[in-house]
Amino acid sequence: MEKESEILGRARRYEVTAEKKVEESDRPLFHLSTRCGWMNDPNGFCRYHGEYHMFYQYHPYSTDWGPMHWGHAVSSDLLHWKYLPAALAPDAFYDAGGCFSGSALTLPDGRHLLMYTGVSGKKKNEEAESCQTQCIAVGDGIEYQKYEHNPVIDGKNLPEGFSRADFRDPKILQEKDGSYTCIIGNRAQNGNGQLLQFRSEDALSWRYDKILIRNDGRFGRMWECPDYFDLDGKKVLLISPQDMLPEPDEFAGGNGTLCLIGNTASGEFRTEAVQTVDFGIDFYAMQTVKAEDGRRIMIGWMQNWDTCMVRRKDAGWFGQMSLPRELHLKNRKLLQSPVRELEQMHGRRVRYTAERISDRRQLDGICGRRLDLEMTIRPDENAEYNKLKRFTMRFAMTGGGAEHLFYSSLTYDASLHRLTLDRKYSGIRRAALHDAQCPVTGDTEELKLRIILDRYSAEVFVNDGQQVLTMLICTEQNADQIDFEADGTAVMNMTCYELV
Ligand code: FRU
Repeated sequence: MEKESEILGRARRYEVTAEKKVEESDRPLFHLSTRCGWMNDPNGFCRYHGEYHMFYQYHPYSTDWGPMHWGHAVSSDLLHWKYLPAALAPDAFYDAGGCFSGSALTLPDGRHLLMYTGVSGKKKNEEAESCQTQCIAVGDGIEYQKYEHNPVIDGKNLPEGFSRADFRDPKILQEKDGSYTCIIGNRAQNGNGQLLQFRSEDALSWRYDKILIRNDGRFGRMWECPDYFDLDGKKVLLISPQDMLPEPDEFAGGNGTLCLIGNTASGEFRTEAVQTVDFGIDFYAMQTVKAEDGRRIMIGWMQNWDTCMVRRKDAGWFGQMSLPRELHLKNRKLLQSPVRELEQMHGRRVRYTAERISDRRQLDGICGRRLDLEMTIRPDENAEYNKLKRFTMRFAMTGGGAEHLFYSSLTYDASLHRLTLDRKYSGIRRAALHDAQCPVTGDTEELKLRIILDRYSAEVFVNDGQQVLTMLICTEQNADQIDFEADGTAVMNMTCYELV
């Protein structure tokens, strides 16, 4: 293997020292956070030699986005991660502007292949200069060597009128016959996104095949970070569109997360259903991996471009991944649940059965910032004149004696069947989007919630993962109180585990 470049060597030396400045207790316990500096999208999420590998968009030198490197970590259970040396640095003429997002797979000879977008140093408006191209690096799980004939796909492979400037985030797939397919985000002449399909026999030399799907202005503009896989008898496309227009009850505006469920019976992808992947504030650019036991597991960047200014001032790192989630389809609906490995982190358990909630109060033993809380809420059938109108859980709340009352909340509006996650009072001093909603669908009056807290985040799984809402919070860790309140009477069952 060739010696690492100076730019990569510098990043690797830097991260070793910078990492030491971050206290373990200042990081999430089981969400992967950046080793130092800045993290965005998950990249190359895969299994290799019996371990999960996660690469990520990485700027080691500051907590702001900068020339993109690929950070690297491995795990055997998706919850305990070990950092490896940065895998890629922007050190070639075709990627001097950054090694953007991409994916990974194992070659038949056992070597590991990374496919990513190389951004040349050219400015975006110099369209003709073909500033985003697709590149390859091959390695052994630690050291990667960029392919001598990079870029392997560039503007010359593209039909007339397709953008050379917005052409990124290759998802490489191995077909059953051993050939390869690659799906890449692109912008058409009318400014809308489209996903392009390329084909290859050896994963090195590629030819343009077709447009897999056109956006046509339906969902935002440019489409980023595609993933494409089989799930429970259907084809699923995950896409992160930019510039979404909001639509009541289904899409928030800005950078969205879409799941397209469909089939390819006709040879083309036909969409049967579309839904938001995560209704919360902080989720984007998700990728999946197939576990050895066949589970399809998704991780997203637990952040969003629209809300990056909501952050802790004093932290030496910025950016973490969501909890890995198992995916399923039921009646053309995506269901998500926390990976079952999380149960191995269950510590002390506290349980409440048929607890009646009306006036605001705390429950003995229910507090903390690293918790797995499972609960059901239903209206009290006997409360004729006191029907359940609203249920609220406040968490990450400061206790008595604190200078300010800070908290975040999850509120269920029983008449509108709507859930709201809100961090307005969590201590943020910026005027930005602080809440997110989703409609609650389900066949019963009972609402089922699973809430995962890990120091600086809350992920809410609604009715067995029919909807999910993810939100970061910056509130200090001593804000660990939780309380409950209902307008009307709610009957609640709860099991709460400390996560250790
Ligand atoms: C999505 C994205 C990708 C790109 C990367 C750059 O968050 O914009 O399209 O490859 O981030 O860091």
